Amino acid sequence: MPIKEISAESVRDKSIRHGHISTLHLWWARRPLPTCRAVVFASLVPDPLDEHCPEAFREAVKNILEDDTYRPYNDIPYTAAFDIMEDNLRNRLMMFIGKFSDKCQNDMRTGKSTPPKDQLSDGSLIKWENKDNPRILRMARELIWVAYNSDRTPTASYKQLHEAFDRAFDAIGKAETKLYNIPDRHIETPHVLEAERELKETIDNFQNQMPSVLDPFAGGGAIPLEAARLGCRSYGNDINPVAHIIEKGSAEFPQKYGKPIVISREEFLKKYGHEGEQMAQETARGISFDGTSYHIPNRLVWDVEFYVKKVLRETEAKVGWMYPEDEQGNKPIAFYWARTATCSNPSCKAQVPMLKGFNIANTSASQIYLEPHVENNNITFEIIQGKSPLKTGWNNRGSITCPCCGSVTDANQVKQQSCTEGLTPRLIAVISEAPNGKRYAIPTDKQRDVMRKQLGEISRPTELMQRNSNGGDTFPWGFTKWGDLFSDRQLYMLSAFIDEIKKNAEELGGTPYTKVLQTYIALWFDRVALINTSFGRWHTSRETIEHPYSRQAIAFVSDYPESNPFCTSSGSALNQLDWVLRYIESESGSPISASFANASSGEKSQFGKKELTAAVTDPPYYDAIAYGDISDFFYVWMKRTLGDIYPINFSTPQTPKSEECTALKHHHEGSEEKAKRHFEHKLTEIFDAIEEQTTDIVSIMFAHQSTEAWTTLCNSILDARMNITGSWPMDTEMANRSLGLAGAALESSVTVACHPSERKGFGEFREVKRDIERKVKEEVESLYALGFRGADLLTACFGQAVSEFGRYKTVEKADGSTVTVAELLDLAKQTAFNALLQGIDADDETRFYIGWLQMNGMGETDFDDATKFTRVGMNIEIGDIFRQGLLVRDGNKQHLATAAEHLEAHSKSKGTSKSDLLIEQVHRAMLFYKGSGGDRRELLRLIRDVAPDANDSFWRVLASLKELLPAGDDLQQVQGLLQNGENLRRECKDVDNQTFTQGTITFGE
Ligand SMILES: C[S@@+](CC[C@H](N)C(=O)[O-])C[C@H]1O[C@@H](n2cnc3c(N)ncnc32)[C@H](O)[C@@H]1O
Repeated sequence: MPIKEISAESVRDKSIRHGHISTLHLWWARRPLPTCRAVVFASLVPDPLDEHCPEAFREAVKNILEDDTYRPYNDIPYTAAFDIMEDNLRNRLMMFIGKFSDKCQNDMRTGKSTPPKDQLSDGSLIKWENKDNPRILRMARELIWVAYNSDRTPTASYKQLHEAFDRAFDAIGKAETKLYNIPDRHIETPHVLEAERELKETIDNFQNQMPSVLDPFAGGGAIPLEAARLGCRSYGNDINPVAHIIEKGSAEFPQKYGKPIVISREEFLKKYGHEGEQMAQETARGISFDGTSYHIPNRLVWDVEFYVKKVLRETEAKVGWMYPEDEQGNKPIAFYWARTATCSNPSCKAQVPMLKGFNIANTSASQIYLEPHVENNNITFEIIQGKSPLKTGWNNRGSITCPCCGSVTDANQVKQQSCTEGLTPRLIAVISEAPNGKRYAIPTDKQRDVMRKQLGEISRPTELMQRNSNGGDTFPWGFTKWGDLFSDRQLYMLSAFIDEIKKNAEELGGTPYTKVLQTYIALWFDRVALINTSFGRWHTSRETIEHPYSRQAIAFVSDYPESNPFCTSSGSALNQLDWVLRYIESESGSPISASFANASSGEKSQFGKKELTAAVTDPPYYDAIAYGDISDFFYVWMKRTLGDIYPINFSTPQTPKSEECTALKHHHEGSEEKAKRHFEHKLTEIFDAIEEQTTDIVSIMFAHQSTEAWTTLCNSILDARMNITGSWPMDTEMANRSLGLAGAALESSVTVACHPSERKGFGEFREVKRDIERKVKEEVESLYALGFRGADLLTACFGQAVSEFGRYKTVEKADGSTVTVAELLDLAKQTAFNALLQGIDADDETRFYIGWLQMNGMGETDFDDATKFTRVGMNIEIGDIFRQGLLVRDGNKQHLATAAEHLEAHSKSKGTSKSDLLIEQVHRAMLFYKGSGGDRRELLRLIRDVAPDANDSFWRVLASLKELLPAGDDLQQVQGLLQNGENLRRECKDVDNQTFTQGTITFGE
């Protein structure tokens, strides 16, 4: 796997918005698309260098990837040393998955950064821009096709397979053209039905010759989306009905229905009337009229837009009055509210707005604050430009300091008030869009009067929320039902939308296609509901509304923005529609959709024995996210918008939780132990079914770093008769990590590849240990050559180590006792670590320094870690490490010493002799080098005495540091020394004959 390239594009993926799967509807813990595409693809093609690789596949790689675009790097750009990447078929295949662009390669070598969109080459499969590139996708699909069919028919030549692929794939295109060009194909004439049947048959025929891939934990649908994009028969399960609907909207409907349509004017008018004609002219979606017919490039986008706008118009006509303009005719975009607490001083009882501060806009262009005026116990505000002179507000973690009398009402009293009589919200400011930015104003009388109007009956969802077992929820404040998250005006407006949605559904009728439209209307509605709660936040530095799920639980807020759904700003209902349409548009290109089941995975009868080729998945992370609990926010609304359309999925009062594969103690009588057992049991049950149903490979992505979670995962895999055969680290979250520098800590997710296998009887610990050591040593060598370094190398070796003991059902010690998986994992880790350091020919202290840097970086760690660390195969005492100044102690924490910290306590000659430790020599050289005030003569002498040759270990240690150090002073010195290495080695020879002026010399960079 080209992990650096995948990581780079995956980090970029987090910031891609328009048309990205994550923007259709909120779901938690989504995997980045580049990681998913890479893992699915790599799971389905063999290694061309493997002795068992079919010849036809090698031929395919040779032919399809012969272009220079896929030539491996002349010099791996992200390693410090000069590493040639051999031009072989395996490496070409990797370069197809992802390759750094020429620009990025140059930038990496010169330490520059490259804009994210330019990092990968245009030919990379995983690049965002290639998600609907027909040429690149065709190449990927053909490679998968050849891999799959050459395995089934070993006698077939590449030429035969290539021709068969062309026939099957091109037939789909022809059938599509035929169907989509039939005028008025929305009317089910025999001709249309025949063309539809033909298209379905060609897709089926193609997919029958492609692998089947299942994701048993499909969530937001990223993995099934990518498997379908690559042409596979793609299945996804999720226990959660909300996830199920999102999956259909993401990876089934756009691919099935987001297609062109030609409608005669007569039919068009019948369906859409003059409003439709007007929308066709206004909307910039490439719709054209040829005098007799409308040509609509994407029928689904058109219909969703048309019907949502209709619902929106009709709802606004009913409840738009609740959001009045101000006297100048400015339409508000949001109303800023603060809940008020009653001052506990009996002689004051002021209603204090619970404001934590007074700034309401804080951008480079606009700074606005609320200036409070207090008269007796009456508090009013004025809106002023600039920054508030008041540094703190009246609300400090729920405790209220009364601005009228100075009394403090503590948080418990305020919570008590909130639970008994409520904290009446007060409208503080109205925000509207003005020509030169946002306008903030004190509410007008009309705007206040509206709030006093009786709204009639309000339908408030009474379903209970679930307490967050880690705290930080709304329960102590008395907000316990989903309906409590909305103000009356919001609920009245949302109910009005639902009435219109239902009315519209009746008019649309119940065909499969209109159900699809209903689904998107419901997804759009969820977006509207999410932005219209009284638990969002006003983002002062962006001037936008943030929804309440910025974390994975809803926390209490004391002030909040209320959106005007009928405006046109980012919080409006229209804007929510735009996100939905953009997504559909962006994923409508492929003809191949995924299939989803709303079921708890692990059901053995769902697929036949060995019916699937691969499973690729991303299981829940232990107790990290309470999917069922938090998605109930949407469930209660979907039940209302989609309950009639998907009656079975929405038959339970709330999302099903008992079968959810998570370790949440509050679902298990408060017992952590029971929760853990449930998670382990469920995960094993699911892997067990997968093992039975899958022939080739099971790839599992896992982001949880705790040993406990890892032990559980490995246990479940091994218990399900599978073995881990490889592991790859991939970054997804670290936005600030600069390319080319391996991160010091393991902040990546890991993908493990497992093979369904018969496991052997028992192994002897002694032998297993020896095998692990041998295997890991071999692996380190080959992975090092591929540019794996540091913690990434460690993770990759880890999989190899596990694969050795994973072949046995049990591993026993000489005394007959069984070695636990936890112990074996520890052994695997230690072996991998030792093997990793073996490449560094240095004294123990220097190896310690590099090893520590790889594992812990320069950050603080607990004192205990140091002792544990030296146990990992090193003949070194922790006391000595501290005495030598390699670790710096700070209370019960410690951190690795910088060059300056390390040599502080030593004499100036320390590190200048060959007999000194390598790390001392390197640090001394860094200090001599430092900046323009460095000591060049001393530096050249040092180089002459300890490292006159490029092969000296000194330079290797520097190269390792370059890859491991975080940005900062030390890294700068290391980079400088390496860049000037050649000069330094040349010049050091006659250092004593040169003249230097101390402190004024620059180092020629
Ligand atoms: C880590 S998320 C998957 C995220 C997904 N890969 C994505 O990119 O959006 C795990 C998913 O497993 C689902 N899940 C939990 N228990 C399950 C079960 N027993 N059967 C099927 N799905 C389950 C959760 O609802 C959640 O959506």
